[in-house]
Order: sequence, then structure tokens, then C-alpha cells
Amino acid sequence: MSEKQQRQVTDHWSDYWARGPLTSLPDDFSGNYDAEIAAFWNARFRDLPELACLLDICTGNGALALLAAEYAAGHQQRFEITAIDAASIRPDLVANARPELADYVADVKFLADMPMECFEGGDAQFDLAMSQYGIEYCDQAQVAPIIARLLKPGAELALVCHAADSDMVSTMRHELTEYRRLDALQLSRSLRSWLQGQLDSTRLREKLVRLAQAIFPEYRAKRSALFGFVLQAINQLVRLDERGLRARRDQIAQWLAQLDGGRQRLDDMLRVNELLASPNWYQPYIDAGLVLQDHGDLLYRQQHHAGQWFVFRKA
Ligand SMILES: C[S@@+](CC[C@H](N)C(=O)[O-])C[C@H]1O[C@@H](n2cnc3c(N)ncnc32)[C@H](O)[C@@H]1O
Repeated sequence: MSEKQQRQVTDHWSDYWARGPLTSLPDDFSGNYDAEIAAFWNARFRDLPELACLLDICTGNGALALLAAEYAAGHQQRFEITAIDAASIRPDLVANARPELADYVADVKFLADMPMECFEGGDAQFDLAMSQYGIEYCDQAQVAPIIARLLKPGAELALVCHAADSDMVSTMRHELTEYRRLDALQLSRSLRSWLQGQLDSTRLREKLVRLAQAIFPEYRAKRSALFGFVLQAINQLVRLDERGLRARRDQIAQWLAQLDGGRQRLDDMLRVNELLASPNWYQPYIDAGLVLQDHGDLLYRQQHHAGQWFVFRKA
């Protein structure tokens, strides 16, 4: 993939992380990954030597890397954690917004704008390579031999991936139908036309009011986050007169970018999910010399299917 193509793939992630969330699923995890997901990772950290090198692949704003840093701080272990992502990630915003995490953020060496396919690192450098809802976005054939080379003999590659039938994927699929509904009601198109001066403010307001009336019953029935976000924004916009709307032009453009970015991330997440539906998607790791130790389903809070976990070991 050329640098330009890679940028197109990750630009919407860069926009997302620049808003400061800690995880890619803030509606499902209000803080960091917890419960059974944290337990799975803590079991990996527990088996590491006192001084260990960890690599978090596709780290986003660092959720998993910070879990590792927190574990080390609480268990007299010293982890050297490298966390990489192809997007322009912003863990500094997490540290600013949540001072209790600032020391952990400072403990991690974050590498932004670093696709895993380009990460060099040292041979046999890491005791654990890990990824939470991340590795599936990479080119498996390219990254598998890189990861195998980076691991020390006996070291683990541990993964938590989405699963085609996980509750989060069902939620994503539902959200996609909502985006399609907003497309059919021409939300992005109307806002874009107004921003480009092809639609006047009166017509924009009429369209937005009609759209709000159309989706409100669905919002009331399901309280969806997306429709809630759209209704709240429309509620603000339709109260504004011509001058008020013009004064908020930048805010409206940002709002449209946020909406479009959300749709792109969703498409991205559902696209990688198709990869995971293939039973041998992880064959490149076996071909690269890693041995699958175990794998299973991850049940979150004893009821939500949160994905699948895999543990590979380098011989
Ligand atoms: C669903 S997010 C997961 C982020 C984080 N692990 C979490 O759980 O919050 C996927 C991340 O993978 C990153 N990504 C996609 N392709 C990548 C690649 N080839 N190399 C490194 N990072 C990549 C994206 O930029 C995005 O931040």
C-alpha cells in the first residue's frame, strides 16, 4: 500500500483519536476495557518476566498499553511498552482528560503514523506482542513474519479480535442500517449542499425538520446513540436564523466530518469483520512459525459476546 493509500485508510481514525477517546468503542466501554477482557490481558501480563518488553499493535489512544502499564505498576513489574498505530493517535489527550492515567501514558513509548507493515524493531526484542480489536486491520501476510521476527523464542502473540457474531458487531450492523437511513433522508448531502452554497438556509431547516420527524419514533423506541447525536444537533441548528447558521459554519462542517468519519470507521470495522469470518484468517501466523496455543470466545460481563481471543507462541 502506498503512503497516500495508507493515509486514506487511517485519516478517519486520526480524526477519531483527535477527539480524545480511550477506546474505539466508547459506547460499550465507558472507561478502559474491564471485566473479562481485562482479566484475559492480566493473565498474559502475569506470566511475563519481571522486566519485559511489550508491543501493542494498532494501539489507538493506548487502551491496552495503559492496561499493561497499570498492571506493571500494581505488581512490581517493569514493562517497557511500545505502542504503535498507523493513525495520528493522541494519547496526550487521554492523559489531559484523565489525570489518573497520565503516569501510565508517560510510561508508554507511543509511535504514531506507524503502520505495522513498516515497523522494524529489533529481532527477538519482545516478550509479548498484543492487539485488541486491531491486528485484523493489518495486512496479515505482511505483518505475520514481522511479528514472528520481533518475538523472543517462547514469547506470545495474544489477540482479542471481533467475531462475526459478537454483540458489538450486531450493534455495528444495526448502526449501519441507521447510517443508510440517514443517507436515504439525505442528511450529509443536504448539509454539504448548504456548506457549498447550493442550498439556502430555509430549505436546509425544512429538510432537517422533516428528517428529525422521520427518525424520532425510531430513536424513541431504541435510544440509538447515532440518532440521539443527530437529533441533538438538528435541535440546535433549526433554532438558528440565517445569521446564526452562517456564524456556525465551521461547527456544522465539523459536525458533518464527524458524521462521515463515523460512517467510514463503521465500514472499516465491518470490512475487517468479513476477514475474521474466514476460519483460516490466522494461517499467516502459523506459516510464519508461531504455534496456536489456544483460542476461545470472550464473554463480557457474562452476557455479551465481545469477540474471540487467540494465544500464539513462538517456538
Ligand atoms: C478498532 S481500532 C482499535 C484501537 C485500540 N486497540 C482499541 O482497542 O481502542 C483499530 C486501529 O488500528 C489502526 N490501524 C489500522 N491499520 C493499521 C496498520 N496497518 N498498522 C497499524 N495500525 C493500524 C487504526 O488506525 C485504528 O487506530
